[in-house]
Amino acid sequence: MPTVLITGANRGLGLEFVRQYCEAGWNVIATCRDPKTAGDLAALDQKYPSLNVHALDVADFGAIDRLAADLKGRPIDVLLNNAGIFGPKPLGDNDPRQTFGHMDYGIWAQVLRINTMAPMKMAEAFIDHIAASKQKKFVAISSIEGSIARAKGRIYAYKTSKTALNMVIKNLAMDLAPRGVITAAFCPGWVKTRMGGDTAPLEAPPSIAGIRRVVDELTPENSGRFWLYTGEINPY
Ligand SMILES: NC(=O)c1ccc[n+]([C@@H]2O[C@H](COP(=O)([O-])OP(=O)(O)OC[C@H]3O[C@@H](n4cnc5c(N)ncnc54)[C@H](OP(=O)(O)O)[C@@H]3O)[C@@H](O)[C@H]2O)c1
Repeated sequence: MPTVLITGANRGLGLEFVRQYCEAGWNVIATCRDPKTAGDLAALDQKYPSLNVHALDVADFGAIDRLAADLKGRPIDVLLNNAGIFGPKPLGDNDPRQTFGHMDYGIWAQVLRINTMAPMKMAEAFIDHIAASKQKKFVAISSIEGSIARAKGRIYAYKTSKTALNMVIKNLAMDLAPRGVITAAFCPGWVKTRMGGDTAPLEAPPSIAGIRRVVDELTPENSGRFWLYTGEINPY
């Protein structure tokens, strides 16, 4: 059975990825900041012997290197960069957070570190694990909010982090092609999670099932694309 590694796997979309890949019989390496407080993940860990949980804060690049060393020699078919933060969330049209004139540059740097730089660091640290696998896929959960073609103003930290993440994925498609690695970025849709909020129209299971379907069918010819969970191509 293939192996998938998932970051930010303790709740939200990451947890749903774990649930679905376990159910499909995959070997799952689920990572999260604090396994001791990850009750839902622990429950899945009890249920599925093919699931292994590891602590990983993706903002800690030394910890990424240490996990890659711990997993040395273990092929990873799909490395799924899911962990992400939104930064300060505006609660309405008049809320100034992440708007012009009210930027918090320290928080912006943290958003870029987690959403953009950490996936790049994961690629550098885990390239040998991915290249040694059968499927060789490197995937990132991005957002249509990062689409330059669809920019409408506001939410600078989150949007720029996902735009830059898309650029990482597109460039890696070229740089890693000689090693047979396929890359892809996805927008999961607007989904009910702590980040998406209660008013989101989409539940996690159909979003993640859609992404998994597209991941299964990725080929070297379509490497570097930015997909919607439905399989449509998003504009950069
Ligand atoms: N929900 C949506 O509508 C939506 C739409 C577009 C894109 N996305 C993207 O989908 C991904 C998952 O989002 P979600 O909706 O599931 O959000 P969520 O419910 O807020 O979950 C975010 C996950 O990321 C983890 N995380 C945050 N910082 C981390 C770090 N430094 N190291 C490791 N893990 C970290 C969180 O762990 P802790 O519990 O430890 O904080 C949590 O597991 C994100 O990349 C997000 O940008 C979501």
